[in-house]
Amino acid sequence: MTLTDARLPRRPDNLVDSPETRMTTTKTRLQDLIDTELPLIQAPMAGVQGSALAIAVSNAGGLGSLPCAMLSIDTMRAELALMRAQSSRPFNLNFFCHAPPQPSAEREARWRAALAPFHAEYGIDPAGIGAGPGRAPFSHEVADVLAEFRPPVVSFHFGLPAPDLLARVRGWGAMVLASATTVIEARWLAAHGADVVIAQGLEAGGHRGIFLSDDLTTQVGLFALLPQILQAVDLPVIAAGGIADACGVAAAMALGAAGVQVGTAYLLCPEATTSAVHRAALASEAARHTALTNLFTGRPARGIVNRVMRELGPISAAAPEFPLATSAIAPLRAAAEAQGRGDFSPLWSGQNASGCKAVPAAQLTRELVASVA
Ligand SMILES: Cc1cc2nc3c(=O)[nH]c(=O)nc-3n(C[C@H](O)[C@H](O)[C@H](O)COP(=O)(O)O)c2cc1C
Repeated sequence: MTLTDARLPRRPDNLVDSPETRMTTTKTRLQDLIDTELPLIQAPMAGVQGSALAIAVSNAGGLGSLPCAMLSIDTMRAELALMRAQSSRPFNLNFFCHAPPQPSAEREARWRAALAPFHAEYGIDPAGIGAGPGRAPFSHEVADVLAEFRPPVVSFHFGLPAPDLLARVRGWGAMVLASATTVIEARWLAAHGADVVIAQGLEAGGHRGIFLSDDLTTQVGLFALLPQILQAVDLPVIAAGGIADACGVAAAMALGAAGVQVGTAYLLCPEATTSAVHRAALASEAARHTALTNLFTGRPARGIVNRVMRELGPISAAAPEFPLATSAIAPLRAAAEAQGRGDFSPLWSGQNASGCKAVPAAQLTRELVASVA
């Protein structure tokens, strides 16, 4: 089935098409758009997973995702080769679309001053701090590699790439997904070439996909966001944020979602590369306390509240722009983790960690779709 055919709503004859009935008439499911068995996307989660998780979910009938934002070109190529070798099912490659910032010496100095007491505590010499792990936006160099593999689905966070880059992705027939955190962002994505909108509710773990504003008061929960986006755009919409079990999946689908994107629930799976401190936090009472924080990268992201978030406050005006905040905090993270502590680690988690289970990803995938597949 082509994408154009798939977008046609399968409408029962007795339903009138109006904004009020839109949610019941637009029943395109993820399976009609992409050749997957299940209406479930495993959320791309940079830093806590590689190809193993994506392969397991794709082979279980969902859509596995490989987050590429933190991968070098060589690693990305190797991961893609692994995915091709170990699965013949569709998969999704995920990229960030931020504009790399101009470093500001003044902001960096303020940030280092804010972290100075911690650096002193751990005996870290700020002068010796190098660049932290980077997060590069989608580029022509990356598109060159993708053209060799022609992935069937590509998803973007923080907007969409420039039109010429997006045209290359479309050129090999990939379906383009992108995250929206507001109705305005969903409309923008629809107008700028997305095929599918991912409605990212405020509950979601990891980075907010917010890209048209930096006003966090615009961010709302999934069940406020999803129906509004469904009414605002004529595209299939995937629900993301706080979905942790079969009931949550069924509820999102009942509201009209074409499918769901689930992240946090997969973090304890053996195929994820989640660190020991992160796993321990997710499995503890601490996971009930999450907040949006910009301390770890410079952009708001949801994580379990830890020492640095408590002592500096989760949002700091001193933190340099994304992704530059990472450098000065990275050595603290390494030092604390070496002592088994997550005090300076980004413990990304959504508001609902109740679905996290240390079971194979294929099993979790089947459990999540038990009521809808
Ligand atoms: C650990 C972690 C890392 C994430 N990294 C990315 C990423 O690299 N790219 C992306 O598009 N979304 C990323 N997200 C957000 C997810 O796409 C999705 O919106 C979120 O996981 C859904 O909410 P949930 O975590 O409550 O299931 C990440 C989420 C988590 C939990």
